[in-house]
Amino acid sequence: MEDLKKLITDAKKDFAACKSLTELDNAKSKYLGKAGPITEAMKGLSKLSKGEKPKIGALINEVKQGIELALNHCKESIQKAILTKQLSDESIDVSLPGIKGNSGSLHPITLTMRRIERIFHSVGFDLARGPEIEDDYHNFTALNIPESHPARAMHDTFYINKNYVLRTHTSPVQVRYMKENKPPLRIISPGRVYRVDSDATHSPMFHQVEGLWIDENINFANLKGVVQDFLQQFFEDSSLSIRFRPSFFPFTEPSAEIDMSWNGGWLEIGGCGMVHPNVLKHTNINKNDFQGFAFGLGVERLAMLKFGLDDLRPFFTHDLRFLKQFKV
Ligand code: FA5
Repeated sequence: MEDLKKLITDAKKDFAACKSLTELDNAKSKYLGKAGPITEAMKGLSKLSKGEKPKIGALINEVKQGIELALNHCKESIQKAILTKQLSDESIDVSLPGIKGNSGSLHPITLTMRRIERIFHSVGFDLARGPEIEDDYHNFTALNIPESHPARAMHDTFYINKNYVLRTHTSPVQVRYMKENKPPLRIISPGRVYRVDSDATHSPMFHQVEGLWIDENINFANLKGVVQDFLQQFFEDSSLSIRFRPSFFPFTEPSAEIDMSWNGGWLEIGGCGMVHPNVLKHTNINKNDFQGFAFGLGVERLAMLKFGLDDLRPFFTHDLRFLKQFKV
């Protein structure tokens, strides 16, 4: 009888130590299962005398009920703990800030082009556009680069067929505009251009902004002044280090390349010069009445300098984490 009564204390201790319903189920089998002490005690009743049977039988029932009560008590507290944990895991803090919608932003090259256009517009330059698929005549011949001229090798051209190319620069727009409009002319022409070229400062597709000013008495000093004023406004710095380096373009004479201080050295950002008389001839402008200058700036190079980058390729890898950083 003492052994039977002790079962309740043991079971309570075992049940209380259980951390999950599975553990509790195993503990239950230990006491109330087929091979457990209660079943064994029931089986043993038959061996008892008539006098002992009701007394022991009643005790077995009492112990069994005591064990079941302890079991239910522990089951309830485990279930309660599970529910409490679930509620806290799934709880919503209504005071937390909401998740913001993902709004788009303009590509840094678009921002740069718009900034360039705004500055030139403010000093009276009109906007002109030309085709990206250009014929050989406008891309080369009319710019004083006849067939078999060595200068064609300077351009790593994507040919579409014998007569058409993906334009290698925005300079053909000069020719188209001069043919269709009478001087005085003052335009910029931004757009995509293409070359077989790829490294940290060269991309196979990139953007240029062509500039053209044709009028009476335009000279190289005007060219330097316009380019310098533009760069000072673009970089918001009136003490910029700019270098005009003597160079060669078949469509300008004299010609220069424009460099800017970068990474302890110089980065070429564009070419420029006085429009060559042969180009004026192709566009029926009398070189004795009008002269002018032209320039072609690399937009990615300007963007690199503006944003402090040393590689232009990330502009075209579509990594939004990179692209979203830029504001002008
Ligand atoms: C020209 O394309 C001339 N058409 C510029 C010009 C216009 C000269 C009018 C005179 C008068 P150039 O090949 O140097 O020149 O290119 C101009 C600028 O484009 C370079 O200075 C550079 O800033 C940029 N550039 C050239 N190739 C690449 C490239 N692959 N990727 C990115 N930028 C480039």
